[in-house]
Amino acid sequence: MHQALYRKYRPKSFDDVVGQEHITRTLQNEISAGRPAHAYLFTGSRGTGKTTCSKIIAKAVNCPHQDDGNPCGLCDICRGVDDGSLMDVTEIDAATNTSVDNVRQLREEAQFTPATGKYRVYIIDEVHMLSSGAFNALLKIMEEPPAHVIFILATTEVHKIPTTIISRCQRFDFKRIAPDIIAARLKEVSLNEGFGLQDDAAQLVAKLAEGGMRDALSLLDVCRSYSDDVTADIVAHAAGLMMEDTLFKIAESIHDGDLPTVTALLDEVNSTSVDYSSLTAQMLRYYRNLMLIKASGGKTEVAGIFAQQAEKYREQQAKFTLEYILYCLSVLQETVTALSRSQQPRIDLEMAVVKMSDITLDSSPKALLARVAKLEGDIKSGKVSVQPKAEKAAQDEQQKAESSQAVYQDKPVTDLTKIVPFTKWGEVLIKLQKKNAALAGALAKSEAFLYNDLVLIKSDGEMFLNMIRTSDFAKQSIHESIIEVTGKKHRLGPYRSDKYEIVQEKSDPLEELISKVEASNDVDFSVR
Ligand SMILES: Nc1ncnc2c1ncn2[C@@H]1O[C@H](COP(=O)(O)OP(=O)(O)OP(=O)(O)O)[C@@H](O)[C@H]1O
Ligand SMILES: [Mg+2]
Ligand SMILES: [Zn+2]
Repeated sequence: MHQALYRKYRPKSFDDVVGQEHITRTLQNEISAGRPAHAYLFTGSRGTGKTTCSKIIAKAVNCPHQDDGNPCGLCDICRGVDDGSLMDVTEIDAATNTSVDNVRQLREEAQFTPATGKYRVYIIDEVHMLSSGAFNALLKIMEEPPAHVIFILATTEVHKIPTTIISRCQRFDFKRIAPDIIAARLKEVSLNEGFGLQDDAAQLVAKLAEGGMRDALSLLDVCRSYSDDVTADIVAHAAGLMMEDTLFKIAESIHDGDLPTVTALLDEVNSTSVDYSSLTAQMLRYYRNLMLIKASGGKTEVAGIFAQQAEKYREQQAKFTLEYILYCLSVLQETVTALSRSQQPRIDLEMAVVKMSDITLDSSPKALLARVAKLEGDIKSGKVSVQPKAEKAAQDEQQKAESSQAVYQDKPVTDLTKIVPFTKWGEVLIKLQKKNAALAGALAKSEAFLYNDLVLIKSDGEMFLNMIRTSDFAKQSIHESIIEVTGKKHRLGPYRSDKYEIVQEKSDPLEELISKVEASNDVDFSVR
């Protein structure tokens, strides 16, 4: 099996860690003198060696063959740290173990002397994610640490760490690694792996990686899969394609409602130093491309995209409706705005993703209501116009007249009034789909009945009732759809089994059939 280059080339000793000499030298001195600190804080950008150095420390302080502060890498203890089997070394991902209880447990355990080695080492990654309760519990042990305990805290966001914790640690700031140093390392790796890497290609990879060795190695991995002789052209190409491919997968999984995959993809992108704001911007650009291609009937040239990606774009736009793409664009646009003043960019992006995937699942009233609300807002503010201007004036008149009447009548006309099925309801829903897709979705499984000029709607969904009660636009769009189908204005009301009795009218069977077929062809919900 192919092992990712960045894993395969994780430095085994301090001598192998590049670009962080100011840190590795100090650590080596402390360890070889037998005086490691009780707590280290490693900060700095992604993929620069924080976790790598934590592991080397864990090995070196316990390895019986330690030499100049370096672990031997071969003994049982070193191998036990590498494969995570050594009891004395505990790696905690604070992103998933944020609670006080986790830290309390750690506190009790830390009192025991180590089982095999000299030190119990606790590596707490992403330490900024700990809750404040957990930080307090951690502080308690750090105030009086047992002599055999070493804490190594690693984070990319040091400003989120309480100063009380910082002040108890020996702090090291990992620098972004200089492009020349990265390039030299990449050349080494390519030599060792037996593939060609042009000098300018190595430089370009190093530049794109922005100081992160992991990113550099990941990109090199992709380049190598294209060719045995990696050129600058291949690098430029691979970098672009890598992102496009990920965006394609993200859009696909969102559309399929596959949230675990989306989450994994977001993690993956984020781990390559793309922050959530720029990822959101990239997604916005991606959906805009989809929109352009969709609107132009599948022509990929309009979006100016890579030839290799054209087929994927074409495939995807065929699967998505224009309404859906537009919906996603609006969610992302909101998110871009929200992100500019957000403390929790990840949550904002996740909210957007959930909204975008729920519309296809048709299951979240919130997502749909949010959509209706946005549409309403846009319409009220005049940002979008749902109908031609000439029609609008007439419509305004009608709306005025309507608002003076009781439009949505909750009270039945009389007790057990006889009502008949409204056979054209299917057609009404088709019209409604174009005007207000969210509402049409909410009414997907509805039925309707007629009593003179009163249309009684039977829908199980709370969502529909909420929409119709809170939104003039919702009422308006049903009214319009009914007028378009029947040519007449109707009042609206809710169906209630305790107030109405349904009688089957002798309808024209042919007409009913036509209505049903039309409904099933044009919209993706069936009319019972
Ligand atoms: N200074 C370095 N010298 C050599 N290789 C490095 C260095 N820093 C990172 N790498 C490479 O990148 C990979 C990831 O590094 P590491 O896990 O130490 O990063 P990190 O700083 O902990 O990043 P993160 O903040 O994302 O956890 C390593 O396996 C190694 O291949
Ligand atoms: Mg790390
Ligand atoms: Zn060893």
